[in-house]
Amino acid sequence: METSKNNKFHLKFILLYIFLLFSPLVVNSYIPDYNIAINCGNSENTIAHNRTWVGDDNDNSNIFSFIEPKSTNPSLTLQPNSLVNAQTPFSSARISLSNFTYSFSSITTSPVFIRLHFYATSYNHSFDPSNAIFSVIVNNNLTLLENFNPSLWHHEDDDEKITKEYCIQIQPNEKLNITFIPNKGNTSNLYYAFVNGIEVVSMPSFLYYTNLDDSNYRFKFLDFDQEYQILKDIALETVYRVNVGGTQVAANDDDTGMFRNWDSDLSRYLEKRYPQSEFSVFGNPLNYLHNTIPNYTAPENVYRTARSYGMDATEDYNVTWNFEVDSGFTYMVRLHFCEIDYKIKNKEDRIFQIFIDDIMAEKAADAIGWSGAPLIPVHKDYAVIMNSQQIERVNLSVKLQRVPLTINTKYRDVLLNGIEIFKVSDTSYNLAGLNPKYLTPKEQESPNQPPKSKKSHIVMIVVVGVSCLLLALAVVGTIVFVRRRRTFETPLEMEESSWKIRKESSSTLPSHLCRYFTIAEIRAATNNFEDIFIIGVGGFGNVYKGYIDGAIPVAIKRLKSGSQQGENEFLNEIELLSQLRHNHLVSLIGYCNDGVEMILVYDFMQRGTLREYLYGSDNEPLTWKQRLEIVLGAARGLHYLHTGAKHNIIHRDVKSTNILLDEKWVAKVSDFGLSKVGPTGMSMTHVSTVVKGSLGYLDPEYYLRQRLTLKSDVYSFGVVLLEVLCARPPLMRSLDKKNVSLVVRFQRCYKEGVIIEEMVDPFIKDSITDECLKSYCQMVLSCLHDDGNQRMSMSDVVGALEFALQLEMSEEDSKFGGTQEKGKSAKMIQYPKFASDDGSDMRFTSSSGDYGSHTSKVSIISATSEDQPLFSTDVFSEVGNQRAR
Ligand SMILES: *[C@@H]1O[C@H](CO)[C@@H](O)[C@H](O)[C@H]1NC(C)=O
Ligand SMILES: *[C@@H]1O[C@H](CO)[C@@H](O)[C@H](O)[C@H]1NC(C)=O
Ligand SMILES: *[C@@H]1O[C@H](CO)[C@@H](O)[C@H](O)[C@H]1NC(C)=O
Ligand SMILES: *[C@@H]1O[C@H](CO)[C@@H](O)[C@H](O)[C@H]1NC(C)=O
Repeated sequence: METSKNNKFHLKFILLYIFLLFSPLVVNSYIPDYNIAINCGNSENTIAHNRTWVGDDNDNSNIFSFIEPKSTNPSLTLQPNSLVNAQTPFSSARISLSNFTYSFSSITTSPVFIRLHFYATSYNHSFDPSNAIFSVIVNNNLTLLENFNPSLWHHEDDDEKITKEYCIQIQPNEKLNITFIPNKGNTSNLYYAFVNGIEVVSMPSFLYYTNLDDSNYRFKFLDFDQEYQILKDIALETVYRVNVGGTQVAANDDDTGMFRNWDSDLSRYLEKRYPQSEFSVFGNPLNYLHNTIPNYTAPENVYRTARSYGMDATEDYNVTWNFEVDSGFTYMVRLHFCEIDYKIKNKEDRIFQIFIDDIMAEKAADAIGWSGAPLIPVHKDYAVIMNSQQIERVNLSVKLQRVPLTINTKYRDVLLNGIEIFKVSDTSYNLAGLNPKYLTPKEQESPNQPPKSKKSHIVMIVVVGVSCLLLALAVVGTIVFVRRRRTFETPLEMEESSWKIRKESSSTLPSHLCRYFTIAEIRAATNNFEDIFIIGVGGFGNVYKGYIDGAIPVAIKRLKSGSQQGENEFLNEIELLSQLRHNHLVSLIGYCNDGVEMILVYDFMQRGTLREYLYGSDNEPLTWKQRLEIVLGAARGLHYLHTGAKHNIIHRDVKSTNILLDEKWVAKVSDFGLSKVGPTGMSMTHVSTVVKGSLGYLDPEYYLRQRLTLKSDVYSFGVVLLEVLCARPPLMRSLDKKNVSLVVRFQRCYKEGVIIEEMVDPFIKDSITDECLKSYCQMVLSCLHDDGNQRMSMSDVVGALEFALQLEMSEEDSKFGGTQEKGKSAKMIQYPKFASDDGSDMRFTSSSGDYGSHTSKVSIISATSEDQPLFSTDVFSEVGNQRAR
């Protein structure tokens, strides 16, 4: 494994998956029959992460033996110079200038993982990490590592701890000898070998090795029409193992019993230049009933998160992951799939294409086609040879693209849940390659790049006159840039090496995420900020509608000058905003900052705000189903803010004017203006802050006690849910006192048992069933609970709204029986069938209103590191709101 489970976010990432009802905390679905962990260079046995790490410096000869030639320099047991962050097994090392061997007897007959842990730091001042160069050989014939220098392997974002993982199968009755051999040096340069931890853990026989008796499961060599098998005499190195769309699943907690580490795909592997990719979490239990794959194949957390375009992205592009590998080897690429989108229920609903190393691997990938139904995990394996003229580090990419229009599929979208990449030992039984260089893949044209060739002819005509000005602007801009950025590169260089930059510094501008507009471009788009282009006026500036690149409508938010916000904060916030990508969030397209102007450019939302379709306008009222779809979309967007991004983000100003609608009626949450990066870690469960937000939507806990939590957004969203149901503003001063507040009136009605129907918008009254209304109202009550802890989470809200929508659809079905609609909803009703193992068909069967206990709860609390930017000042208020009033 190239990366380590102990990167610096280790302690700060707390991943809680609680499957309350359906999945009674199954921790390990596989229990290894051979499981040894050695704490090298230590005389103590220590218990860490629920397993015992045995010291190699005392008598554990019943478990393994440590062997070194007597004639040579004896090995040493040393501690790293800094013990900060050095947990087991990194708190000590076995170090030697000579060969040494760990020998294991009575190995199981099943294949085993060998994991080697290295902390590439200085030991005892005389052992510098740059002199640690060595080989590792198994049983005198399999080479795992050669000229290996661990200090060259760590990424910027982990702290020099490297774990390498291998899969091998030992002959029965054979010993397993792992030998460390330092490179030959000379008198002035002595090389040494070291290791901090060794694991030998058995795995199921056919997890990665091919079962020749199972004719159903075969896989192909890409580019050759030939079957490929992983047989006993092959050794594998796990080079990458990635939880796509999710957070890291660390070896010690959430794997299925084999202590595998699953990295997050986001920071290192996902090409983010156009990242509409989506994070999705779905509350239902996964299903292994169809016997597709065993449940230990990958942890549930891997299958519960995925990436896709987002359902209504319109542009064709490849969702791409890049992995640096050694040329000259064959790789087994395993892709994990599990359909988790509730809308996709049938074969051929979501068909897409897969390319591995730019070779077409699937021209009609179909997760449900393979697995039989939603929520059933499945994986597909491929073998690919990485050829090249010389031995070098090359890029192995995995790309997903929508199918051409000629192929019939309901959703032209892609899906991937997990990636594993294994290097296959070559004919000389070797796995060793080069030390990494973290190469930069060839840059393709970025869709977000300023169009260089598309300049309009008008510009061409005046180009002579303006070019001097532009040149001057560019120079000024460059200087401003240099001053501001520590790791400055010219925009062009940044473009070319954005892949590398991402690893180097978190403070670099996300040029691959977010476009930089010149002030000239902005002036051209808004006719020099002409008033007729204004579509909204907010406390912090005007919002203009403009067209970029001649045709693409955008919302341009011009922050008032003289604001308190410094340029650094502005850029920090842009960086954060531009990383938030979700189908139900208004996307930041770019920004402009010429020293005086601070301008943000957003996707333009054709239909304006949700409120305009509820009351106070001439718009045709929305149907109940449309309303449910809109609030469900908005709930998903908020859920993403709360859990899906790197930091959990509190929106702080959820209201019906901050939910915008695009031309397809897709709801997008806007205005993260008051957003603030959420609490960090367990010690801080809320953010103390000056009360901001909008009257009528404020969480009572927030304005009474200045306690801002994720649940403050849930409260405000509850108010929106009521507005949607009743089609009236949260506060109406014109009404008599006890009815001024919508929330108070609703809660009173409920308490006094007054018929709630009286409050419901007359336009939709007839189309809501009692059952749907009841479940909706219970959800709203829970959202509006005075005590934040008692409120449901945003993920529960999503689940409850999905349920309400189902009820509504099945209602429509019975109304329009026999029509086309029927076929559609019939499937809908069937849908809960796979929702639970016990045959009960609904997620919310209780009438207690306690949704929490009837849904699988998924909560992810991710925390931020200190060096991450915080949302700071008010200037971002209403930033994303193009129709701010
Ligand atoms: C160390 O191991 C290598 C490879 O097996 C071998 O060539 C060398 O002679 C060994 N050195 C000693 C001192 O045993
Ligand atoms: C492992 O090492 C032991 C002790 O040196 C030796 O007896 C045994 O033959 C070795 N086994 C293999 C498979 O190399
Ligand atoms: C020792 O090896 C290093 C690195 O290979 C080399 O730069 C140096 O000149 C060598 N010194 C001697 C005395 O051979
Ligand atoms: C996606 O990648 C494949 C393989 O490299 C390529 O053939 C295709 O043109 C790419 N599609 C787009 C839209 O870039």
